[in-house]
Amino acid sequence: MSEPTIHSLFDLTGRVALVTGGSGYLGQSLCRALAEAGATVVVGSRNRDTVLEFVRSLPTPAGVTHEAVTLDHLDEASLNSGFDTALARAGQVDILVNNGHQGQPLDLTTVTAEAFNADLRNVTGYFLLARRLRDHVVARQVPGSVVMIGSMYGVVGSYPDAYAGICVASPVQYHALKGGVVQMTRHLAVYWAKDNVRVNCLSPGPFPSSKAPPAMVTRLVEKSPSQRMGQPHELKGPLLLLASDAGSYITGQNLLVDGGWTAW
Ligand SMILES: NC(=O)c1ccc[n+]([C@@H]2O[C@H](COP(=O)([O-])OP(=O)(O)OC[C@H]3O[C@@H](n4cnc5c(N)ncnc54)[C@H](OP(=O)(O)O)[C@@H]3O)[C@@H](O)[C@H]2O)c1
Repeated sequence: MSEPTIHSLFDLTGRVALVTGGSGYLGQSLCRALAEAGATVVVGSRNRDTVLEFVRSLPTPAGVTHEAVTLDHLDEASLNSGFDTALARAGQVDILVNNGHQGQPLDLTTVTAEAFNADLRNVTGYFLLARRLRDHVVARQVPGSVVMIGSMYGVVGSYPDAYAGICVASPVQYHALKGGVVQMTRHLAVYWAKDNVRVNCLSPGPFPSSKAPPAMVTRLVEKSPSQRMGQPHELKGPLLLLASDAGSYITGQNLLVDGGWTAW
Protein backbone atom coordinates (compact mmCIF):
# COMPACT_ATOMS: atom_id res chain seq x y z
CA MET A 1 0.00 0.00 0.00
CA SER A 2 1.41 3.40 -0.92
CA GLU A 3 1.70 5.81 1.98
CA PRO A 4 -0.42 8.97 1.83
CA THR A 5 1.57 12.18 1.62
CA ILE A 6 1.27 14.77 4.36
CA HIS A 7 -0.44 17.09 1.88
CA SER A 8 -3.10 14.52 0.98
CA LEU A 9 -3.73 13.77 4.67
CA PHE A 10 -4.57 17.39 5.43
CA ASP A 11 -6.44 17.99 2.16
CA LEU A 12 -10.18 18.51 2.63
CA THR A 13 -11.10 18.81 -1.04
CA GLY A 14 -14.53 17.23 -1.56
CA ARG A 15 -15.48 17.46 2.13
CA VAL A 16 -18.15 19.67 3.64
CA ALA A 17 -17.74 21.17 7.12
CA LEU A 18 -20.53 22.68 9.20
CA VAL A 19 -19.25 25.16 11.80
CA THR A 20 -21.71 26.51 14.34
CA GLY A 21 -21.11 30.09 15.41
CA GLY A 22 -18.65 30.18 12.53
CA SER A 23 -18.52 33.96 12.24
CA GLY A 24 -17.49 34.52 15.87
CA TYR A 25 -14.07 35.54 17.15
CA LEU A 26 -12.51 32.07 16.99
CA GLY A 27 -15.03 30.64 14.51
CA GLN A 28 -13.74 32.83 11.69
CA SER A 29 -10.25 31.36 11.89
CA LEU A 30 -11.68 27.86 12.21
CA CYS A 31 -13.75 28.39 9.05
CA ARG A 32 -10.77 29.80 7.16
CA ALA A 33 -8.64 26.80 8.16
CA LEU A 34 -11.21 24.41 6.70
CA ALA A 35 -11.76 26.51 3.58
CA GLU A 36 -8.03 26.94 2.95
CA ALA A 37 -7.68 23.15 3.17
CA GLY A 38 -10.23 22.81 0.36
CA ALA A 39 -13.48 22.09 2.21
CA THR A 40 -16.85 23.60 1.46
CA VAL A 41 -17.74 25.46 4.66
CA VAL A 42 -21.30 25.90 5.91
CA VAL A 43 -21.38 28.66 8.51
CA GLY A 44 -24.09 28.24 11.13
CA SER A 45 -25.53 31.34 12.80
CA ARG A 46 -28.66 32.20 14.71
CA ASN A 47 -29.28 34.65 11.85
CA ARG A 48 -27.71 33.64 8.53
CA ASP A 49 -28.24 37.10 7.03
CA THR A 50 -25.65 38.49 9.43
CA VAL A 51 -22.89 36.14 8.26
CA LEU A 52 -23.28 36.27 4.48
CA GLU A 53 -20.52 38.84 4.04
CA PHE A 54 -18.13 36.70 6.07
CA VAL A 55 -19.09 33.61 4.04
CA ARG A 56 -18.32 35.48 0.82
CA SER A 57 -14.88 36.37 2.22
CA LEU A 58 -13.85 32.72 2.73
CA PRO A 59 -11.14 31.44 0.38
CA THR A 60 -12.09 28.91 -2.29
CA PRO A 61 -8.93 27.12 -3.42
CA ALA A 62 -11.01 24.26 -4.83
CA GLY A 63 -13.58 26.58 -6.46
CA VAL A 64 -16.38 25.58 -4.09
CA THR A 65 -19.31 27.69 -2.92
CA HIS A 66 -19.47 28.23 0.81
CA GLU A 67 -22.87 28.43 2.47
CA ALA A 68 -24.65 29.84 5.52
CA VAL A 69 -27.55 28.40 7.48
CA THR A 70 -29.68 29.61 10.35
CA LEU A 71 -28.97 27.29 13.26
CA ASP A 72 -29.62 27.89 16.96
CA HIS A 73 -28.31 24.85 18.81
CA LEU A 74 -30.36 25.71 21.92
CA ASP A 75 -33.53 25.13 19.90
CA GLU A 76 -34.02 21.54 18.70
CA ALA A 77 -36.25 22.48 15.75
CA SER A 78 -33.76 25.14 14.58
CA LEU A 79 -30.83 22.76 15.04
CA ASN A 80 -32.53 20.12 12.89
CA SER A 81 -33.68 22.54 10.21
CA GLY A 82 -30.17 24.07 10.15
CA PHE A 83 -28.61 20.65 9.60
CA ASP A 84 -31.21 19.78 6.93
CA THR A 85 -30.59 23.07 5.15
CA ALA A 86 -26.83 22.46 5.23
CA LEU A 87 -27.46 19.09 3.54
CA ALA A 88 -29.79 20.66 0.99
CA ARG A 89 -27.37 23.46 0.09
CA ALA A 90 -24.04 21.61 0.24
CA GLY A 91 -25.25 18.08 -0.58
CA GLN A 92 -23.50 16.44 2.38
CA VAL A 93 -21.77 17.14 5.69
CA ASP A 94 -18.58 15.28 6.62
CA ILE A 95 -17.19 17.43 9.41
CA LEU A 96 -19.07 19.10 12.25
CA VAL A 97 -17.43 21.76 14.39
CA ASN A 98 -19.55 22.46 17.47
CA ASN A 99 -18.17 25.90 18.25
CA GLY A 100 -21.16 28.16 19.01
CA HIS A 101 -21.70 29.18 22.60
CA GLN A 102 -24.43 31.15 24.32
CA GLY A 103 -23.68 31.91 27.95
CA GLN A 104 -24.58 34.37 30.62
CA PRO A 105 -22.04 36.46 32.57
CA LEU A 106 -23.24 35.37 35.99
CA ASP A 107 -20.70 33.96 38.42
CA LEU A 108 -21.27 31.59 41.32
CA THR A 109 -22.48 34.39 43.56
CA THR A 110 -25.30 35.46 41.27
CA VAL A 111 -26.22 32.61 38.92
CA THR A 112 -29.77 31.32 39.22
CA ALA A 113 -30.86 27.73 38.72
CA GLU A 114 -32.63 28.79 35.55
CA ALA A 115 -29.54 30.51 34.12
CA PHE A 116 -27.29 27.59 35.12
CA ASN A 117 -29.58 25.09 33.37
CA ALA A 118 -29.91 27.32 30.31
CA ASP A 119 -26.13 27.45 29.85
CA LEU A 120 -25.83 23.67 30.22
CA ARG A 121 -28.15 23.29 27.24
CA ASN A 122 -25.22 24.16 24.98
CA VAL A 123 -23.94 20.62 25.46
CA THR A 124 -27.35 19.20 24.61
CA GLY A 125 -27.19 21.03 21.30
CA TYR A 126 -23.65 19.79 20.69
CA PHE A 127 -24.88 16.21 21.24
CA LEU A 128 -27.98 16.47 19.05
CA LEU A 129 -25.95 17.93 16.18
CA ALA A 130 -23.23 15.30 16.58
CA ARG A 131 -25.88 12.56 16.38
CA ARG A 132 -27.27 14.11 13.18
CA LEU A 133 -23.75 14.04 11.70
CA ARG A 134 -23.20 10.45 12.82
CA ASP A 135 -26.49 9.20 11.37
CA HIS A 136 -25.91 11.07 8.12
CA VAL A 137 -22.38 9.77 7.43
CA VAL A 138 -23.32 6.21 8.46
CA ALA A 139 -26.19 6.31 5.94
CA ARG A 140 -23.70 7.47 3.28
CA GLN A 141 -21.12 4.87 4.42
CA VAL A 142 -18.37 7.49 4.63
CA PRO A 143 -16.16 8.61 7.54
CA GLY A 144 -17.19 11.52 9.72
CA SER A 145 -15.39 13.82 12.12
CA VAL A 146 -16.90 15.79 14.98
CA VAL A 147 -14.84 18.45 16.71
CA MET A 148 -16.30 19.86 19.92
CA ILE A 149 -14.88 23.20 21.01
CA GLY A 150 -14.21 22.84 24.72
CA SER A 151 -12.07 25.02 26.94
CA MET A 152 -9.17 24.80 29.35
CA TYR A 153 -11.93 25.59 31.86
CA GLY A 154 -13.37 22.16 31.17
CA VAL A 155 -10.20 20.71 32.69
CA VAL A 156 -9.02 23.13 35.38
CA GLY A 157 -10.59 25.64 37.73
CA SER A 158 -9.97 29.34 37.22
CA TYR A 159 -7.78 31.66 39.29
CA PRO A 160 -10.21 33.79 41.31
CA ASP A 161 -7.61 36.57 41.56
CA ALA A 162 -7.44 36.91 37.79
CA TYR A 163 -10.92 38.37 37.73
CA ALA A 164 -11.42 39.95 41.19
CA GLY A 165 -12.51 43.57 41.01
CA ILE A 166 -12.47 43.63 37.21
CA CYS A 167 -15.26 41.47 35.85
CA VAL A 168 -17.35 38.37 36.45
CA ALA A 169 -15.11 35.37 37.06
CA SER A 170 -15.30 32.48 34.62
CA PRO A 171 -18.82 31.27 35.43
CA VAL A 172 -19.34 28.07 37.43
CA GLN A 173 -21.86 26.86 34.86
CA TYR A 174 -19.26 27.36 32.10
CA HIS A 175 -16.85 25.03 33.93
CA ALA A 176 -19.64 22.46 34.38
CA LEU A 177 -20.57 22.79 30.71
CA LYS A 178 -17.09 22.48 29.25
CA GLY A 179 -16.17 19.62 31.56
CA GLY A 180 -19.27 17.89 30.25
CA VAL A 181 -18.24 18.57 26.65
CA VAL A 182 -14.85 16.94 27.25
CA GLN A 183 -16.37 13.87 28.87
CA MET A 184 -19.18 13.55 26.30
CA THR A 185 -16.48 13.56 23.62
CA ARG A 186 -14.96 10.39 25.10
CA HIS A 187 -18.34 8.70 25.43
CA LEU A 188 -19.45 9.37 21.85
CA ALA A 189 -16.01 8.45 20.48
CA VAL A 190 -16.22 5.00 22.01
CA TYR A 191 -19.75 4.35 20.73
CA TRP A 192 -19.14 5.65 17.23
CA ALA A 193 -15.57 4.48 16.50
CA LYS A 194 -16.90 1.32 14.82
CA ASP A 195 -19.06 3.56 12.60
CA ASN A 196 -15.91 5.37 11.37
CA VAL A 197 -17.03 8.54 13.12
CA ARG A 198 -14.32 10.24 15.13
CA VAL A 199 -15.20 12.58 17.97
CA ASN A 200 -12.59 14.88 19.48
CA CYS A 201 -12.50 18.02 21.54
CA LEU A 202 -10.36 21.08 20.80
CA SER A 203 -9.95 23.09 24.00
CA PRO A 204 -8.63 26.63 23.68
CA GLY A 205 -6.84 28.27 26.54
CA PRO A 206 -7.04 32.05 26.89
CA PHE A 207 -7.88 33.73 23.58
CA PRO A 208 -9.42 37.03 24.69
CA SER A 209 -10.78 39.25 21.95
CA SER A 210 -10.27 43.01 21.86
CA LYS A 211 -13.53 43.33 23.81
CA ALA A 212 -11.98 41.71 26.93
CA PRO A 213 -11.02 44.07 29.79
CA PRO A 214 -7.31 44.92 29.35
CA ALA A 215 -6.64 44.64 33.10
CA MET A 216 -7.96 41.07 33.10
CA VAL A 217 -5.85 40.20 30.07
CA THR A 218 -2.75 41.54 31.83
CA ARG A 219 -3.44 39.23 34.76
CA LEU A 220 -4.08 36.24 32.49
CA VAL A 221 -0.79 36.85 30.69
CA GLU A 222 0.99 36.61 34.05
CA LYS A 223 -0.71 33.25 34.68
CA SER A 224 0.38 31.75 31.37
CA PRO A 225 3.67 29.88 30.98
CA SER A 226 3.91 31.44 27.51
CA GLN A 227 3.41 34.91 29.02
CA ARG A 228 1.00 35.80 26.23
CA MET A 229 -2.52 35.10 25.03
CA GLY A 230 -3.46 32.83 22.14
CA GLN A 231 -4.26 34.20 18.72
CA PRO A 232 -7.17 32.69 16.76
CA HIS A 233 -4.92 31.46 13.92
CA GLU A 234 -3.13 29.24 16.46
CA LEU A 235 -6.21 27.00 16.46
CA LYS A 236 -6.12 26.44 12.69
CA GLY A 237 -3.50 23.68 12.63
CA PRO A 238 -4.92 21.78 15.64
CA LEU A 239 -8.42 21.91 14.13
CA LEU A 240 -7.19 20.58 10.81
CA LEU A 241 -5.38 17.71 12.53
CA LEU A 242 -8.61 16.60 14.21
CA ALA A 243 -10.91 17.27 11.25
CA SER A 244 -8.85 15.72 8.45
CA ASP A 245 -7.43 12.30 7.62
CA ALA A 246 -4.20 13.46 9.27
CA GLY A 247 -5.95 12.52 12.51
CA SER A 248 -7.61 9.36 11.23
CA TYR A 249 -6.57 7.30 14.29
CA ILE A 250 -7.31 10.05 16.82
CA THR A 251 -10.65 9.81 18.58
CA GLY A 252 -11.94 10.57 22.06
CA GLN A 253 -9.14 13.05 22.74
CA ASN A 254 -9.12 16.52 24.20
CA LEU A 255 -6.46 18.63 22.49
CA LEU A 256 -5.60 21.59 24.70
CA VAL A 257 -4.22 24.62 22.87
CA ASP A 258 -3.41 26.82 25.82
CA GLY A 259 0.20 28.00 25.74
CA GLY A 260 0.95 25.58 28.57
CA TRP A 261 -1.78 26.85 30.95
CA THR A 262 -2.83 23.35 32.03
CA ALA A 263 0.76 22.05 32.15
CA TRP A 264 1.96 24.06 35.15
N1 LIG B 1 -12.21 33.09 23.25
C1 LIG B 1 -11.72 32.33 24.21
O1 LIG B 1 -10.82 32.73 24.97
C2 LIG B 1 -12.20 30.92 24.39
C3 LIG B 1 -11.51 30.11 25.29
C4 LIG B 1 -11.93 28.80 25.46
C5 LIG B 1 -12.99 28.32 24.76
N2 LIG B 1 -13.67 29.14 23.91
C6 LIG B 1 -14.80 28.57 23.19
O2 LIG B 1 -14.65 28.84 21.82
C7 LIG B 1 -15.94 28.94 21.20
C8 LIG B 1 -16.00 30.23 20.41
O3 LIG B 1 -15.79 31.31 21.31
P1 LIG B 1 -15.51 32.81 20.80
O4 LIG B 1 -14.55 33.38 21.76
O5 LIG B 1 -15.20 32.83 19.36
O6 LIG B 1 -16.92 33.47 21.09
P2 LIG B 1 -17.86 34.40 20.17
O7 LIG B 1 -17.05 35.36 19.39
O8 LIG B 1 -18.91 34.94 21.08
O9 LIG B 1 -18.50 33.37 19.17
C9 LIG B 1 -19.48 32.45 19.58
C10 LIG B 1 -20.48 32.30 18.49
O10 LIG B 1 -21.48 31.40 18.94
C11 LIG B 1 -22.64 31.66 18.20
N3 LIG B 1 -23.81 31.31 19.02
C12 LIG B 1 -24.27 31.93 20.13
N4 LIG B 1 -25.37 31.32 20.59
C13 LIG B 1 -25.61 30.29 19.74
C14 LIG B 1 -26.63 29.32 19.67
N5 LIG B 1 -27.62 29.28 20.59
N6 LIG B 1 -26.60 28.40 18.67
C15 LIG B 1 -25.60 28.46 17.74
N7 LIG B 1 -24.62 29.36 17.74
C16 LIG B 1 -24.63 30.28 18.74
C17 LIG B 1 -22.64 33.15 17.84
O11 LIG B 1 -22.91 33.24 16.46
P3 LIG B 1 -24.25 33.95 15.88
O12 LIG B 1 -24.43 35.23 16.65
O13 LIG B 1 -23.93 34.16 14.44
O14 LIG B 1 -25.37 32.97 16.13
C18 LIG B 1 -21.21 33.59 18.14
O15 LIG B 1 -20.60 34.20 17.04
C19 LIG B 1 -16.95 28.83 22.34
O16 LIG B 1 -17.45 27.51 22.41
C20 LIG B 1 -16.13 29.18 23.56
O17 LIG B 1 -16.66 28.61 24.74
C21 LIG B 1 -13.30 30.43 23.71
